[in-house]
Amino acid sequence: MKFKFDEVQNRRNTNSLKWDVAENELPMWVADMDFKTAPAIRKAMQKRLDGGIFGYSDLTDEWYEAYQKWWKTRHDFDIKKEWLVFATGVIPGLSSAVRKLTTPGENVVIMTPVYNIFYNSILNNGRNVLESELKYDGENYEIDFEDLEEKLSNPQTSLMFLCNPHNPVGKIWDKETLARIGELCKKHYVTVISDEIHCDLVAPGQKYVPFATASETCKEISVTCIAPTKAFNIAGLHTAAVVSANPSLRHKMWRQLNTDEVGEPNVFSVDVAVAAFNEGGEWLDALREYIQDNKKTVVEFINNNIPELKIVSTDATYLLWIDCAKLGDNVEDLAQFIRKKTGLYLTAGKVYGNPGKNFMRMNVACPRTLVNDGLNRLKKGIELFKQERQ
Ligand SMILES: Cc1ncc(COP(=O)(O)O)c(C=O)c1O
Repeated sequence: MKFKFDEVQNRRNTNSLKWDVAENELPMWVADMDFKTAPAIRKAMQKRLDGGIFGYSDLTDEWYEAYQKWWKTRHDFDIKKEWLVFATGVIPGLSSAVRKLTTPGENVVIMTPVYNIFYNSILNNGRNVLESELKYDGENYEIDFEDLEEKLSNPQTSLMFLCNPHNPVGKIWDKETLARIGELCKKHYVTVISDEIHCDLVAPGQKYVPFATASETCKEISVTCIAPTKAFNIAGLHTAAVVSANPSLRHKMWRQLNTDEVGEPNVFSVDVAVAAFNEGGEWLDALREYIQDNKKTVVEFINNNIPELKIVSTDATYLLWIDCAKLGDNVEDLAQFIRKKTGLYLTAGKVYGNPGKNFMRMNVACPRTLVNDGLNRLKKGIELFKQERQ
């Protein structure tokens, strides 16, 4: 293996949010990876570090070109230079959009279960969350378009957050689905903020569709938030971009990011994005293979050893969405129990909204030995849980 994804990194006592856990615990919760980032990114950072001067930074032509080239070649999305605006993160972008494109008391539509911080971006700004629950048939998730339209048609609704691909259910939305969302949003004067942070973490051979490429309408009514951070494991470096082909939306986003003071790069932001997109492709593709094998390992193990659990089949993200419905309806209790008895720390699905209440989310972006350790703990945890409850 060219890249050492099997190598276990000791992240304890490194200020890692994920690894701020007890000595015996194995964290498989928050979405960051236990792999060192791509060599090209480390090299770019080292070069900046060796320069020894860390003054204010600016964007460079290379930064624009790196985003443009990556999205054109990988995702068939022709981004014009002027469409790109820097942001310190995807969530800062979403929150700025809420502040600029809605007024307090208005509704922002989200399709749940969804990344929990979407709620914060909306509620912390005094806006209302309007949830359209995804339909789950025991295998797969689909959009409930009737319900979605009802929520979008509420005159108090002005914005929709789309998660594309969707965390935590791991779904890649197809072009027709995205175009249909676009039509409905246009019909009801709703702007779409498409969070595409997971777009490079799709299974080998799979492609995601950028919302803005699904139709002319989608392009006109949306702002897209993208970043190298999730795919290259550099979330702590705070570097992202918002993109809009619509000059008015773009101008508003640019003003608000500036007002919110989340529109300026730190000393590493530009270098790492350029290195990731210009030189990180090979590493990323190897990573996607490794993650795919991890997912297979988990699915096989659970199918063979833990019949009470069912993994929702996913084409994107390194997060597995585990249906625990057979174990009763208090999965928060179950997750806590497993953590207490075995040290395995998974996320109870309720944080992603009520329709996530029967699920747990497992992050498998770690060396295979840790995946296996996690699986053994999970098996033991479920066995003990059943013994105690019977
Ligand atoms: C869907 C989604 N959006 C945004 C983020 C975080 O983005 P950022 O760190 O750039 O604010 C995450 C992190 O897990 C995520 O899953």
